[in-house]
Amino acid sequence: MSALKIAVILGSTRPGRNGKAVADWIVDRAGARTGADYELVDLADWPLPFMDEPVPPSMGQYQGEHTKAWTAKVAEFDGYVFVTPEYNHSIPGVLKNAIDFAYAEWNNKAAAFVSYGTVGGIRAAEHLRTIASAVQLAHVHQQLAFSLFTDFENLALFKPGEHHDGAVTKLFDELEAWATAMRTLRG
Ligand SMILES: Cc1cc2nc3c(=O)[nH]c(=O)nc-3n(C[C@H](O)[C@H](O)[C@H](O)COP(=O)(O)O)c2cc1C
Repeated sequence: MSALKIAVILGSTRPGRNGKAVADWIVDRAGARTGADYELVDLADWPLPFMDEPVPPSMGQYQGEHTKAWTAKVAEFDGYVFVTPEYNHSIPGVLKNAIDFAYAEWNNKAAAFVSYGTVGGIRAAEHLRTIASAVQLAHVHQQLAFSLFTDFENLALFKPGEHHDGAVTKLFDELEAWATAMRTLRG
């Protein structure tokens, strides 16, 4: 069986975003893993318009070239680590839009969540769990929540607390186990 492929999806795109450092840290920690290959998928590199498909993506009749390209990218992976900030108690619109553009490509795969914000972005992560369920992503229990006050210096320089080291290992363990199991389900 080929190695698992996991995307680390960076869900913020604004200039000066804190998300890049968080996603880079996840990819860096994942570098030591032997059970899966992790790849950064930065939504800044996938400038999708607001949802413009004439038929709901769950029908699988993609028309836009941007949709075909993005869904082909999503399809490459067995699992996903979503890195999301909290914007007004939820996820950024750019991340919701990117999720909305695909459907079958998410189905019966595994997901884990990494959030950040003033209270760790946990309200965004909880919303993301609901959205993930709607696209039939199996989401693991372990999640990481970085506080802007304690894991960032001056709210901008990412310096995660040491306790996150064990937490991220557990997240990878759970995600890879479920990604493997879901592969069996997909046949
Ligand atoms: C539009 C917007 C709304 C925000 N709303 C919240 C919020 O509801 N809760 C929170 O903890 N932080 C909130 N913040 C602060 C962000 O969590 C913080 O700026 C974080 O760094 C944003 O991620 P980014 O830098 O990767 O874009 C908000 C920031 C923006 C830009």
